Amino acid sequence: MKLADNKATLSFSNGSPSVEMPVYQGSIGPDVIDIRKLYAQTGMFTYDPGFLSTASCQSAITFIDGDKGELLYRGYPIEQLATQCDFMETCHLLLYGDLPNASKKAEFSKTVRMHTMVNEQMQFFLRGFRRDAHPMAIMTGLVGALSAFYHDSTDINNPEHRDISAIRLIAKMPTLVAMAYKYSVGQPFMYPKNELSYAGNFLHMMFATPCEPYTVSPVLERALDRIFILHADHEQNASTSTVRLCGSSGTNPFAAIAAGVACLWGPAHGGANEACLNMLEDIQKMGGVSKVGEFMEKVKDKNSGVKLMGFGHRVYKNYDPRAKLMQETCKEVLQELGLENDPLFKLAMQLEKIALEDEYFVSRKLYPNVDFYSGIVQRAIGIPVGLFTAVFALARTVGWIAQLNEMIGDPEYKIGRPRQLFTGSERRDVKPLAGR
Ligand code: ACO
Repeated sequence: MKLADNKATLSFSNGSPSVEMPVYQGSIGPDVIDIRKLYAQTGMFTYDPGFLSTASCQSAITFIDGDKGELLYRGYPIEQLATQCDFMETCHLLLYGDLPNASKKAEFSKTVRMHTMVNEQMQFFLRGFRRDAHPMAIMTGLVGALSAFYHDSTDINNPEHRDISAIRLIAKMPTLVAMAYKYSVGQPFMYPKNELSYAGNFLHMMFATPCEPYTVSPVLERALDRIFILHADHEQNASTSTVRLCGSSGTNPFAAIAAGVACLWGPAHGGANEACLNMLEDIQKMGGVSKVGEFMEKVKDKNSGVKLMGFGHRVYKNYDPRAKLMQETCKEVLQELGLENDPLFKLAMQLEKIALEDEYFVSRKLYPNVDFYSGIVQRAIGIPVGLFTAVFALARTVGWIAQLNEMIGDPEYKIGRPRQLFTGSERRDVKPLAGR
């Protein structure tokens, strides 16, 4: 963080003395005004619900230019990472700051592979859930429960504990998501097969059974790996900020990541891919492409409460670069599976075309986000709709843990404690029950 040459001055119309505040520059992106001493100097807080203008931390991991539609992990454009690297390299990059060379990559991948199994007791814990439980309810419970199984990696102030918990979380998430799925369909759990790639192993644990050999399709493996890369981190979004806030109390990493899983579940965040696919299926049931116009009218009617799911983003005011890559992957997967004429894909393309030309969307700078096409890809792979957000959580785990570890290593980190503008009742006295 570098001090800028200029300072910010805050003045008041009631004659109170003005205050000067330092301005800091990042390496790219907007400068920030340091308001940390504002309360001490003026007795006032700033008011910014939803953090529309507030940088909650300094970070060197991910950068988004929402106007340009640019996403960089540690400086590398997402398009290059998605086409030239795999998820293990991306994890190494996010966790340790740079892409690994061949031997570092082999070493890192091996370390992750050594931790793919979960404690056998986890099965019994999982069996306590109803078979029809939402996978995100299960994941919130299972991830938090990891802290009860791995006592040797729960001290967030110990760098070794932080390192091993990061590896454990990345390695075990696919196993847990696949177990949640197998449990829901009543099939036996499949143990990880460590000769497979990270994505290939997930496909195996999801779709293999002990009865028949299962061969991983390289096209589906690559598509899934790309889904993981595209979802791996996205700077200070709601779930990442939740992980940071939760971790700022000094809680263990498994508990902090469980908080991130819970936040991601919401339809305005990670739940959007599930909501988007449900929306496409509903329009399909109503009559498909011929009903798109009617549906769009509802979306534009503020009183309808209907949103075009998979569209719009707090930061991107241009095409989400991940959506472009996801659309390409979608085409490849559908082609591989002989589903080129998939009606939901056609419907999505039609919705996108209309929205990109419509004044409502153009004036509000609403573009497709990553979730618009990721649901179609996952559905084609055979992943059930209810599991989509759990797959997102699996991929985002590396981002959450990299951000959490960065926060713990930041000398300026403090427990997160926002303030408020109180609008409730002033002090009053309790009346006896009979007199109220
Ligand atoms: N459909 C219709 N209108 C929309 C949509 C949408 N998907 N998104 C935003 N708008 C409208 C809002 O109604 C608002 O209109 P107004 O100015 O007339 O009141 C305007 O666009 C600005 O929207 P906000 O809600 O203020 O934008 P915000 O930054 O708070 O919200 C969000 C962003 C939550 C992503 C929103 O666009 C949305 O709900 N999208 C659908 C859900 C979705 O796809 N979420 C995934 C996000 S990406 C991710 O988590 C991986």
